[in-house]
Amino acid sequence: MILAPIAVVAFLASCAPSAPGGERHGAASSALTAQARLTACEQDPRVVAGLVTREICAGADIFFRETFEGNGRSCGTCHPVENNFTIDIPFIDTLIDNNPLDPLFIFEQEPELEELETFELKTLGLIRVNIDGYDDLDNKFTARGVPHTLSLATTIAPDPANGTEGAPVHRTGWSGDGAPGTGSMRDFLTGAIMQHLPTDLGREPGVAFRLPTEEELDLTLAYQLSLGRTNELELTQVSLTDPEAEEGRLAFLDPARGRCNVCHSNAGANHMDSGLNRNLDTATRKAPASDTIGVFDGGFGGKDQAEPDFDVFDVGVKSGFGDGTFNTPPIIEAVDTPPFFHTNAFGPDIEGAVQHYISDRFKESPAGRELEARFGTPIAFPDSDIIKIGRFLRVLSAAFNVDMARQRLDAALVLVDRFHDSRTDVQERLMELAEVELDDALQVLAIGGTPLHPVSSDRIRLAKAEIAAGLEATRWSQRQRRLAAAISRVKVARDQFGSNITYRLGEGNLMY
Ligand code: HEC
Ligand code: HEC
Repeated sequence: MILAPIAVVAFLASCAPSAPGGERHGAASSALTAQARLTACEQDPRVVAGLVTREICAGADIFFRETFEGNGRSCGTCHPVENNFTIDIPFIDTLIDNNPLDPLFIFEQEPELEELETFELKTLGLIRVNIDGYDDLDNKFTARGVPHTLSLATTIAPDPANGTEGAPVHRTGWSGDGAPGTGSMRDFLTGAIMQHLPTDLGREPGVAFRLPTEEELDLTLAYQLSLGRTNELELTQVSLTDPEAEEGRLAFLDPARGRCNVCHSNAGANHMDSGLNRNLDTATRKAPASDTIGVFDGGFGGKDQAEPDFDVFDVGVKSGFGDGTFNTPPIIEAVDTPPFFHTNAFGPDIEGAVQHYISDRFKESPAGRELEARFGTPIAFPDSDIIKIGRFLRVLSAAFNVDMARQRLDAALVLVDRFHDSRTDVQERLMELAEVELDDALQVLAIGGTPLHPVSSDRIRLAKAEIAAGLEATRWSQRQRRLAAAISRVKVARDQFGSNITYRLGEGNLMY
C-alpha cells in the first residue's frame, strides 16, 4: 500500500496512537540555575554510575524542565522523549484526552497567545513559525512539522557546496537556517525560546521570557548532541537477512535506481560527495499540508524581506520567502516519525515518502534535474523498489529502536546491580522508555505483504513481557532477573536483522 501526498486528516487519524506515557513536565516546572542543576545531577544515579556526564544530565534537565520564565512550555513540550522527540497527531490526540491544559495548547488558554499557533497544530501537527522574521506577525509566518532532535551530532555540519558567504555555521531546522545569530546549534535554544515559549507576542527578552545563560546554552547543546546515534553506518558493508530488504539496500545505493545515497549517504543526512549536510530543492514545497496558513514555505533564506521573494509553486507568483531549498534530514530516524518532510504532508508510511522521488514533482525540481545531469537520465525505479527500499529502511529503523531499548535496559541493569532498591524511579523510567522503543520497532516491522522479521517481533514481545513483569517487581533481585531476561530476548531479536548495522549511541538517550 503506497500513499503519497494525500488528504492528511484521513491518514493521521489512522495511525496507531503512541501514548504520552509517564509524567509530562509542564507549567509547574522548577526555576533552577544551571549550577543548581549540575549540583543535583551529582546525586543522579546515572551520573554516579558513570553512565551519563553531569553536564548532559543538567542539559537534559534544562531541556525538559526549564521554562525560561515563559508561557509554561519547555523544549520537551514539542520534543518529548517518549515520542521520539517529536509530536504527531496520535500523540496530540492522546494529550488532548489526558491533559487538555498541557502548555502545548497554551494558545487556547491565554488570550495574549491566541496567535501563537494556528488551529492546524491540533489537526495537522503543524507549528506556527516566524522563520523569516517577526516584523509582520499577522501575515509573515508559515507552518512546519516538528522534527525529531535525534542524531543531531551527525546532521548539522554545513556543506560548502551551498556557498559559504553568510551561511549559518550549522544546518538546523527544516530549512537549515533555524538558529538566530551565526546560526549555531548552540544558539538554537535562544531562537526556540523566543519562538515557542513567550508569554506575549511582543517577545521582548526579559519581559516575555528570559534569555538563557551562557552555561545553559553550553549544557543544552551538550545534551542535544548526545541524542540518538553519533556515528554513520557503512552501508556498503551492511548485509540484511530479509532478501527484499537486502534488495532495497542495493536499490538505495544504486545510481540507476533509488539514488537515495547521493543526498542521504548511509541513510543519514550527509551528501556523498562531501560527507556534509546539504540544502536542496526537492519540490516538497509544492505539497503543503494546508494552503491556508500564513505564507507558503520558501525554505532557506528570505529573512527580513518585506515582500515574498520566492515563487513556491513555480506559477509566476511570489508566494513565499526563501530560495526553495530545505535541509537533508537523516532517514534512519525518519521511519518511525511520520508524517514526512517539512510539510507533514507525506505518509503515513515511509513508502509514501519514497514514492515522492519518482514523482514528476521531484523529477522537475532543481534537485531532480541535478541528479539527471549527474547520471544522464531522470530518476526512475519501479514500484517494487518502493516496497524494497521501504523494507530496507524499516529494518534499519527497527535495529536503531532495538538498540536504544537495549541501551536503556543495560543502564537499568547497571543501576539495579549497584543501587538495588534505591532510586527505583530511574530504573523503572528507563525500562518504560525501553518499551517505547520496542513498540516503535514492532510498529515499523508490521507491514502488509510478506511479513518482515516475524520471529524478531515475537522475541520483542517476549522482551516486553519481561519488562512489564520487572516493572511489577517489588524487590530489586526480581527486577534484576527480569531485566537480564529482557536483554537476552532483545539481543536474539536483533541478531536476526543482518550484519554490520552498528550504531554508536549517545548517552543523552538515558535522560528524560
Ligand atoms: C511549540 C513546539 C516547539 C517547542 C516548544 C520547541 N520546539 Fe524545537 N522545533 C519545533 C519546530 C516546528 C522545529 C522546526 C523549525 C525549523 O524548521 O526551523 C523545531 C526544530 C528544532 C531543532 C532543529 C532540529 C534539526 O533537525 O535541525 C532543534 C535543535 C530544536 N527544535 C530544539 C528545541 C529546543 C532546545 C527547544 C526549547 C527551547 C525547543 N526546540 C522547543 C517545535 C518546537
Ligand atoms: C537530491 C537529494 C536527495 C535525494 C536524491 C533523496 N533525498 Fe530524501 N530528502 C532530501 C531533502 C532535501 C529532504 C528534506 C525535504 C523537506 O523537508 O521538505 C529529504 C527528506 C527525506 C525524508 C523525510 C525525512 C523526515 O524526517 O521527514 C525521507 C524519508 C527521505 N528523504 C527519503 C529518501 C529516499 C528513500 C530517497 C531515495 C529514493 C531519497 N530520500 C533521495 C534530499 C534528497
